[in-house]
Amino acid sequence: MSQRTRTKVAAGNWKMNGKVSDLKEVTKIAHAARQRKTVFTLLCLPLTLFGRVGGAGLSVGAQDCHVSASGAHTGEISAEMIADASATHVIVGHSERRTDYLESDCLVQQKAQAVLGAGLTAIICVGENREQYEAGQALAVLQAQIEGSLPEAANSNNVIVAYEPVWAIGTGLLPTNEEIQSVHSEIREMLGRQVVDGEGISILYGGSVKGSNAAEIFSLPDVDGALVGGASLKANDFIPIIEALDAAEA
Ligand code: PGA
Repeated sequence: MSQRTRTKVAAGNWKMNGKVSDLKEVTKIAHAARQRKTVFTLLCLPLTLFGRVGGAGLSVGAQDCHVSASGAHTGEISAEMIADASATHVIVGHSERRTDYLESDCLVQQKAQAVLGAGLTAIICVGENREQYEAGQALAVLQAQIEGSLPEAANSNNVIVAYEPVWAIGTGLLPTNEEIQSVHSEIREMLGRQVVDGEGISILYGGSVKGSNAAEIFSLPDVDGALVGGASLKANDFIPIIEALDAAEA
């Protein structure tokens, strides 16, 4: 399947950042996103801002959810509640949650299943850590994460995969373009083997994406967009990334 048929996605992950005073950045990003029609732009915001971006006309996502739809789980939010707040996507299995909260592939799969059950799209994150990268184990780690984290009902309409080498997140370090392309192409094959229309799933690269490196990353044939942390917080940093994806050969 050619890349042309896959959705190009610029997704921002604000993590635990953003107050009401930062909504002006959302407004500016939304305005720029409307001009770049080949790109699906999404901001995964803190839940506290959800109710405040209604007028911005931008797709909003959450960064995690509980596996259940409701119940006695103090402090948790369900995919159903995220859907009820008009969000469309949920990130699951981000490395910060896998590391800080010991989330397993099995839990990530259950969360992704809950996201699909609520009618939302799951952005499922996978990625090797530095030790695994240096030991040449990246592909084995990714294969296990993909096998363990994708729910059975996954397809190209309800799942996006984000490849985020843990050692590249927030560090300014990146794999080479050759490495990114080769890993994305391997992931595409893994998805093709596991999911009926798996080759049509958009695969985003994440980890230290910036306006200055976005164009070369987006020129790689198996990169369908990016999951962006730090550089998604300010419109002046995120808009050039959206523009680079819009300009990339489909
Ligand atoms: P970064 O984060 O762009 O700040 O490296 C990416 C992510 O964690 O999704």
